[in-house]
This record gives sequence, structure tokens and C-alpha cells, in this order.
Amino acid sequence: MQKLLINGKRELSGSIKISGSKNASLPILAATILCDKVKLKNVPLVKDIFTMLELLRFIGLSATIQKKNGIIQVKSNKKNIKTLAPYNLVKTMRAGVLVLGPLVAKYKKAKISLPGGCAIGTRPVNLHLFALKKLGAKIKIKNGYIVAEAKNGLYGADIKFPSISVGATENAILAAFNAKGKTILRNCAIEPEVKDLIKFLNKLGGKVLIKGRKISISGSTKNLNTTITHEIIFDRIELGTYMIAAALVGKKIILNRIDPKIVKKEIEILKKMGVRLKVNKTSIEIIKSLEIKKINIETKPYPGFPTDLQAQLMVLMIKAKGKSKIKENIFENRFMHVPELKRMGANIEIKNKTAIINGPSKLTGAEVMATDLRASVSLVLAGLVADNRTIINRIYHLERGYELLEKKLKNCKARIKRI
Ligand code: EPZ
Repeated sequence: MQKLLINGKRELSGSIKISGSKNASLPILAATILCDKVKLKNVPLVKDIFTMLELLRFIGLSATIQKKNGIIQVKSNKKNIKTLAPYNLVKTMRAGVLVLGPLVAKYKKAKISLPGGCAIGTRPVNLHLFALKKLGAKIKIKNGYIVAEAKNGLYGADIKFPSISVGATENAILAAFNAKGKTILRNCAIEPEVKDLIKFLNKLGGKVLIKGRKISISGSTKNLNTTITHEIIFDRIELGTYMIAAALVGKKIILNRIDPKIVKKEIEILKKMGVRLKVNKTSIEIIKSLEIKKINIETKPYPGFPTDLQAQLMVLMIKAKGKSKIKENIFENRFMHVPELKRMGANIEIKNKTAIINGPSKLTGAEVMATDLRASVSLVLAGLVADNRTIINRIYHLERGYELLEKKLKNCKARIKRI
């Protein structure tokens, strides 16, 4: 099995082009089920995207990738569509459940494997099913599968989510877009990735409007027969990860192809921690902090601080002077990086949903592993700032969501290699 080897304590300098967002690409790829021909630009070529393409091909769409420039083209074949998402594909990538909405809306039925457990929490799909039922689908759970049917198609409805979910909001938008009549969704997730999906759908001839946490959808069931082109938004979590890397070990790092307006919260928190950054129109320049200050934060739905950056920010807190706290409000088991960071020398306690980080601690390299994408990348950050050598196992987690991680870091003079 491949490992990453990092020799830490090296100052980084140079520039990094931020890739397109994985979590925006996945629902937009699910949306291609509703379309004839789609051309997507700036798709990150990471494992989760390949799994989603495999699922679309299984369903009966044709999908091609131009690896050189991250362009993906998807075409509907109209014939031989299977309204099935099998266990082997959904279990490796939970976002597979996002094909439920478009399949039921367009083909009036779907059989989707329940994703099952996940390392960061139980992650049920009850809110996805709640919305689909309100739109008129009959749903049963049978042999580990969600079996959904809407014999007469879906109908618009007024739906209020009992709690905020990114995936359930996306699935409901996708289903409502092909339903008859208008839908109003309330208490929605309004992550930039949800907004990118809406931007894409509005190119298909429907009308999706967003106001606060309310989304109204007057969909379109027409086939347009023209190619819809869309450029995926930048990956704000990848940006945040490299911002933290630069705050830890950056001589001067420039992060390009971004929109700073989307990461206001992250910029505000890093500034409070004493990170020196210059915000330009489409880039951010960051220099290592002279002294990192402690901070208390909580993860929240957008525009709050993202759970997907919690593990990475914790590494910066290890280097901050004093006691910092992070409360994880989104997932119940997202502190799996903590035991590994402690093995590298961090002083962290967990009390219920809160991690208390007593800093600053000196980190020393160790052999480590993690069980999810963001926890793994936090170990890369720890390895970059630690003394000696860090070996990271199970790097397939990183491959699920970070495009060209080693190359991007190596270009900034990090001593990192795959063995
Ligand atoms: C999306 O997951 C992201 N994945 C996650 O990215 C991200 O951590 C998460 O949103 C929160 O921002 C994609 O976009 C593909 P949720 P999602 O539904 O949609 C509970 C990464 O590292 N919930 O907003 O699955 C759930 O258990 C990842 O890239 C229900 O109770 O997250 C959680 O506690 C991992 N019932 C909370 O809501 C439901 O039906 C928020 O989850 C659905 C969710």
C-alpha cells in the first residue's frame, strides 16, 4: 500500500492553483441525469469524481474525461437507462445517493443502495427521503436499498427541512427541478456548492431562486438538445487547507483562482489568529505567522466555519499560544485525527463535542494514519510543520478529494514523496 513521506520543517514558497470543488462537482454530475448533453470545466480529477462517473455510466449515460484540462462531458443515451445505484458504488462514495432525486423525477422510479455507516458519523439519509416523499414519491426500504416510485411523476410542494443538510437540500432541488409545479424549500443549506448547483440548473431553462435559507424552484422538464456548459466553482476546502499550510510554514504562498468573498469566515478566523494575509481579487497571499494566537470556534453550516476544515485548523491551534477550543457541531465522530496528532506531540483533550488544544506544542514526525479525507490532510499539515520524518498511511483517503496534493506542495518546495 502506498504511503506519503514528509520531511518537515521546510519553509514553503511559491504559488498554488486551487482546483475545482469536489463537493460542487458531485451534485452537478448527478444533475446531468436530467440533461441531454453537458460539458463541465474545472472538475477536479479525484477518486470521488471517478466513482460518480462510474455510477453515471452504470445508469446508462456516457461520460468522457479530458484529463489534461479537467473537462468532463456527459451525454444521455435515452435508451437502456437503469434506475439503480448499486451497493458497491454507493458504499465507497455516499454522494451516490444524490442520483435518487433526478432518477425519480425523470424516470419515476429509483432503487438506490443505502450508503451505510461512515467514519465521521452515522450520516443518515432520512432528510433526503423526507423531501422526496413530500414531492410525491412512495418510498420503502428493502434489502438495504431505498426503493422509490412516483407513478404519476413528482409534484411541487412547500417543504421545511427540520434541520439543515447539504445533501438533502441538493437532492430535493434536483427532484423538484423535474417535478410538475413550483416547489419551495425552507431551512436549506446554502453552501457555495449548493449555489453552484443552482447556477447550473438555471442554465437548463428552469428558475431556481435563493433567498436566505429559502429556495424556490420552478423546474423544467424540457429536453434542450443543446450542450450546457458550466465551470465548477473553486474548492474552498482545498483553499482553506493550503491557507493553513501557509500559515504554518509559508515563507510566502500565493493561492490562485479563487473568490475571497466565499471564504470570509476562514479569512476572519485566520486573521484573528495572527496570520498575515493579503487578499486580492482572485488570489490570497499568506506568510507564516510570527506568533499564532489562540481562538475558540465552532463548526456550523455555511456561512459558518466548515466542519471540513476543522481537522486542519486544529493543527494551527497546536502551534497557537494558550488554550484553543473547537466545537464540532455537524458530525458526531469527527475527531479521529486527535489520537494521531497526540502521537506527534500535540496536547489535546476531548470533552463531548469540544476539542481543547493546549498550545504551543512541538510536533515530531511519526508514522500515522487516518480514516477520512480531512483527518488525513490534517496529518499532512502536521507533517509539514513537524521535526523529522512523518509517514502517512492509507493515502487513498487523500486521493478521494485532493487533486495533485504532492505536486502542489512539492512545487512550493515541500519535501514530500510517495513510497
Ligand atoms: C456534505 O455532506 C459534504 N459532502 C461533506 O463533505 C460535508 O462535511 C458536509 O456536507 C457538511 O458540510 C458532499 O458535499 C459530497 P449533511 P452531506 O447532509 O451532504 C445530518 C468532505 O470531507 N443528516 O449536510 O452528507 C448528518 O448526519 C465531506 O468533503 C441527517 O441527520 O452532509 C450531519 O450530522 C465529508 N439526515 C448533518 O445532518 C440526513 O438525511 C449535516 O450533514 C442528512 C444529514
